[in-house]
Amino acid sequence: MPARRPNGEAALIYSRIAGTGSYLPEKIVSNADLEKLVDTTDEWIASRTGIRERRMAAVGETTGDLAFHAASRALEAAGVAASEIELIVLGTTTPDIIFPSTACLLQHRLGANGCAAFDVNAACSGFMYALGVADQFVRSGQVKKALVVGAETLTRMLDYGDRSTCVLFGDGAGAVVLEAASEPGIFATRLHADGGYKHLLYNPVGVSAGFKLDEPNAGVRVMMTGNEVFKVAVKTLDRMVGETLNAAGMAEKDVDWLIPHQANLRIIEATAKRLKLPMERVIVTVDRHGNTSSGSVPLALDEAVRSGKVQRGQNLLLEAFGGGFTWASALLRY
Ligand code: UT7
Repeated sequence: MPARRPNGEAALIYSRIAGTGSYLPEKIVSNADLEKLVDTTDEWIASRTGIRERRMAAVGETTGDLAFHAASRALEAAGVAASEIELIVLGTTTPDIIFPSTACLLQHRLGANGCAAFDVNAACSGFMYALGVADQFVRSGQVKKALVVGAETLTRMLDYGDRSTCVLFGDGAGAVVLEAASEPGIFATRLHADGGYKHLLYNPVGVSAGFKLDEPNAGVRVMMTGNEVFKVAVKTLDRMVGETLNAAGMAEKDVDWLIPHQANLRIIEATAKRLKLPMERVIVTVDRHGNTSSGSVPLALDEAVRSGKVQRGQNLLLEAFGGGFTWASALLRY
């Protein structure tokens, strides 16, 4: 017997992606541009990370602006009006202001006033966390259409005197519209965190801990012990791939595309190897986008959809890993 809603309708127990969208700021910052700022080389950045260029938001352009463009494109692709959206979950670690949430600012700008709207801060796993949360709302029958966004202006909190971090990150946003469906859709999502790793990747500035305005570069510093993060990321993503396949009742061979977090090409290659997927079945944008944190997975997804690589009916494994540490995944049929 299918589950019933209070009004007697059969519950639609899955969520599926009805449409995707993304947005990148216009300004391109190449590795050569960064060579002029810090002691680095295009060769070092490209060989250690796979990054060749990244985008930077214009002065006055905010995370909410990027989110608005990405969300508008996702709504258009889905053929859904903003007024039909019942939930907005936005992953970001660089909100426009401390409050209201960027999700609330976005909701008003889209004209979706009245629906639930909130941000999730899970650093680079922000979009994956947002997707996992929205999927639960749809599966429980509470909402039929949800907007899920990952948007960041990470360049705003970089120290352009620190070569170990400033070459890695970029700005961008991606979004999906989820809708209730009688068939998957999303088979499984997995969300995890281990706050014991805070010291390896963090920004020390905050409200309750103090803004520390008297310190040099206050408020603009991502602190990272990159090589330690790298090792834990590879091991953790390896484990999570197995867990996600099990949760979805699938094997490696069932995955058509890996759409990974775009932090480092070498981490992406390790995850592809674990999945026994050739790199031709992996969506890579890190070379052009750098690490856009919460923006990275939905940007890669939208690019793959719009380029015609990802087709309806194919199985996609999405995953991300970031500060917290947090890590999260989704296995879905597009
Ligand atoms: O999205 C959130 C999760 N974040 C990640 O997944 C990032 C994971 N980590 C990484 O991607 C890599 O660890 C990095 C790309 C950050 C660094 O690559 P690495 O191969 O782990 O290098 P390393 O940190 O061990 O540094 C090697 C050397 C050091 O010099 P010495 O001590 O060997 O003389 C660094 O000072 O490279 C030096 N270095 C640089 N050299 C030129 C660090 N940054 C730069 C740079 N240009 N930009």
